[in-house]
Amino acid sequence: MTPIPADALVFFGATGDLAYKKIFPALHGMARHGHLAMPVVAVAKSGWTLDQLRARAAESIERHGHRDRAALDTLLRALRYVDGDYGDPATFAGLGAELGAAARPVHYLAIPPKVFGLVFEQIGASGSARDGRVVIEKPFGHTLRTAQALNATVHTVFDEERVFRIDHYLGKNAVQNLLFFRFGNAWVEPIWNRQYVESVQITMAESFGVDGRGQFYDQTGAIRDVVQNHLLQLLTNVAMEPPPGAVPELVRDEKAKVLKGIAPLRPEDVVRGQFRGYRDEPGVRPGSTVETFVALRLWINSWRWKGVPFYIRAGKRMGTTATEVVVTLRQAPALFGDIAPPANRFRFQVTPGQTIAISSFVKVAGSSLLGESVELTVSDHSDPTEMTAYEELLHDAIRGVSARFARQDYVEEAWRIVDPVLDDATPVFSYAPGTWGPAEAAAIAPPDGWQTPLVPDLQPALAS
Ligand code: BG6
Repeated sequence: MTPIPADALVFFGATGDLAYKKIFPALHGMARHGHLAMPVVAVAKSGWTLDQLRARAAESIERHGHRDRAALDTLLRALRYVDGDYGDPATFAGLGAELGAAARPVHYLAIPPKVFGLVFEQIGASGSARDGRVVIEKPFGHTLRTAQALNATVHTVFDEERVFRIDHYLGKNAVQNLLFFRFGNAWVEPIWNRQYVESVQITMAESFGVDGRGQFYDQTGAIRDVVQNHLLQLLTNVAMEPPPGAVPELVRDEKAKVLKGIAPLRPEDVVRGQFRGYRDEPGVRPGSTVETFVALRLWINSWRWKGVPFYIRAGKRMGTTATEVVVTLRQAPALFGDIAPPANRFRFQVTPGQTIAISSFVKVAGSSLLGESVELTVSDHSDPTEMTAYEELLHDAIRGVSARFARQDYVEEAWRIVDPVLDDATPVFSYAPGTWGPAEAAAIAPPDGWQTPLVPDLQPALAS
């Protein structure tokens, strides 16, 4: 059955950081593409007026380089504002009044996870859920147990079909391209398995630190912030079976199945790090042992992947900013000399470029039997006019298209995997900013080492 589009968008956390950085630009993009023909009711507790919120929205859009005046006017006209405490029924009475006759509002919770429960109670009690949907920011829960409890709370107000757990990585073109490339090319799938693939590495490196988000980050850490969600999503796109159709539930079934084949992480497969200077960041506890870096390895128990190691590495204040997936094939034998050629690699860069490239071995010109590795670029796509990840996903939520949102079973499986290595289950090692994390990460590195993402201005000295 085709879902019925929403007729209002409510967003909680309207005066916060996420709204400023991502949501206003996404709403502006939606207006530009003709996708914002509904009231946008912003809710926050800041003591602001609607005019102040409009000024903030305009500033955010200006700051992000969007200068489409007509789209900005559409957004500013659509904006409503309710100021109040999330625990106060009067706030939700105000929300109800602003919603008017809207029957299917999308409620977007861009607020700290600790207030999710409170907001659900109030949405439920005030009747403002109506026949609408809810979009919830990551991390969804703090552990497996709290994610299960949160799911139970959410389901008291919205049944699962109406719950959209957002992970903005799923809105990235390069992340979707992993599936297109795999399932759209007859020559890829026959080699995409344990017979041909030696290992898979996923790196998410960020050269910046916690940038004013110290308080949030210090309750979160790298595993909860990006591994449990963004990086396991990348992994499932690399590893999932082709779904028997493009129907959202069929795609989500395959993704959940990958996670079901992964055992809970063992401490010996995880190395945590913290950059020097982290504890001096505003909002961070002086003796904090929260990780700003993590490296881990895991295996998928399936016919396709049994025995193939998957490595994940993520960190703040690293040598560069890049997210890349590298699939390394088994090495060819040495036929033209004593040394076997380097293994072929598929490289999927998600940021800063959107690249798919494959390394191949060829002979250098001349009479000697010397070879070299060259990279074939399959796709190198970056279109500044395309929709941002947030815009795509909010547009999907408004239309009720759920394929690119995380389902309850998926989210709980992801927590099951990381649960045993959360918090202080393993030691945290310090590393110098601008490097590739603590030296201890070498202990669980792939035999051919961690692959440094290919970013043009990367300083060779930082490559490990
Ligand atoms: C967010 C994390 O979900 O993703 C941040 O909370 C991280 O810590 C960000 O920096 C990265 O997103 P992107 O799209 O810039 O790679």
